[in-house]
Amino acid sequence: MPTYSLIHPVVGAIAVLLCYATAYLGLSRMMLIAGKRSRFYWFRRNVHVNMGRSFVALLFVVYPLGILGISETGFSPFSTPHAYLGSFLLILFTFGAVLAFLILKGRWEYIKHHGRVMLAGAALSIFQIIGGIVNLRSLGIKTSELCFFTGR
Ligand code: HEM
Ligand code: HEM
Repeated sequence: MPTYSLIHPVVGAIAVLLCYATAYLGLSRMMLIAGKRSRFYWFRRNVHVNMGRSFVALLFVVYPLGILGISETGFSPFSTPHAYLGSFLLILFTFGAVLAFLILKGRWEYIKHHGRVMLAGAALSIFQIIGGIVNLRSLGIKTSELCFFTGR
């Protein structure tokens, strides 16, 4: 079984999980700022920043791995909607990360824009997961093979 086509879905799933964990912290911040209190809301700025940075960095690894994976299986790249949504998400999250960089430089007025851009990306990522599962099925890759790959 080709390697990249197994690595990509595993690393892609880890990236999406990191995205949702970061989104959870961001949403908690929004709730806390709005004056809503709950033991489920938790925000630590440095945790959010580090987790968000790791997510965006991982996205730049996941994307080429996907292209390598599809090429390895003999299909031409950009043959699936997953590739186009993936490209859009890469641009969107990069834009959100640039806004985050500006916030860290003291441009507080971008906090709301950053939050909206990133949450839109997180919502669209659901379709990226569905597209990924469709790809797994089309290529005949089973979850057990991915578990074998991760050593579980
Ligand atoms: C935001 C995260 C992700 C991005 C940016 C991304 C991007 C890509 C890209 C660009 C391709 C090449 C497709 C083509 O050229 O037609 C691809 C292929 C593929 N993706 Fe993803 N993907 C992501 C997450 C996932 C997830 C979570 C899964 C699994 C559920 C997955 C499963 C696949 C599969 C099975 C392929 C076919 C080739 C291969 O296995 O490497 N992807 N992806
Ligand atoms: C490059 C990675 C990221 C960095 C450096 C970053 C940084 C920040 C910073 C500095 C704030 C303002 C916090 C404060 O000053 O109190 C913030 C807020 C926020 N972030 Fe991020 N973030 C990143 C990624 C993400 C991701 C991936 C998501 C969601 C998918 C996200 C969602 C949010 C939300 C919802 C807010 C709150 C916005 C509001 O209160 O209106 N961020 N982020």
